[in-house]
Amino acid sequence: MGDTALTWLAIRASGVTAWGLLTAVVVWGILLRTRILGRAASPTRLLDLHRWLGALALSFLAIHMVLLLFDSYLTFSIPQILIPGLSPWNTFAVALGVIAFWFLIPVSIVGRLRPKLKNSGAKLFQQAHWLAYAAWPIATMHYILAGTDALAQWSIALLIAGSGLIVLGLMARGFIPSPGPTRAAGSVVIRS
Ligand code: HEM
Repeated sequence: MGDTALTWLAIRASGVTAWGLLTAVVVWGILLRTRILGRAASPTRLLDLHRWLGALALSFLAIHMVLLLFDSYLTFSIPQILIPGLSPWNTFAVALGVIAFWFLIPVSIVGRLRPKLKNSGAKLFQQAHWLAYAAWPIATMHYILAGTDALAQWSIALLIAGSGLIVLGLMARGFIPSPGPTRAAGSVVIRS
């Protein structure tokens, strides 16, 4: 296998890994907020894992992007990986990936600065979180439209499993009305 094929494989593998981790970050965030696991998981441990998964997702995303600078078949320049709409290949699909990347940045910056931001910190952190949530459907569209393997059987199974977990989480969080019986007051904490 030549260098080009290896780089290309690594671009795709890091992309799929970043998507899986991003999905896990969102699911963990929902678990943290809803406390649906009850005593099975302490909030501190869930928060640690949520942060750790977020850092890991960004690391794989960085690998996914940096490798594009070294791919000899599809060579990208730095502006092309950072500015939506400049991609020399599949411009719209790649632009979605770039937008998803930028949507993930504020939460990691505000998260680190939060202790110094005092009163405005909580609001800014919440707004940054909304952007991070929005990154997931945008990254998923990017995966489906740009991925060479997106429609392979394993990939469809992964997309369905990940999306299913997110939908279940959103149902628990109350965005999508649960079809089940009304929840007892206080059994699920729902805050926006
Ligand atoms: C949260 C952000 C992102 C996620 C989760 C993500 C994930 C993915 C996934 C899962 C694939 C499909 C791999 C495959 O099956 O072939 C892919 C492909 C691709 N992504 Fe991303 N990506 C993101 C951001 C970006 C950014 C910022 C760029 C920068 C240019 C980019 C460029 C590409 C390209 C060029 C492909 C096509 C690779 C190929 O299959 O030939 N992505 N990405």
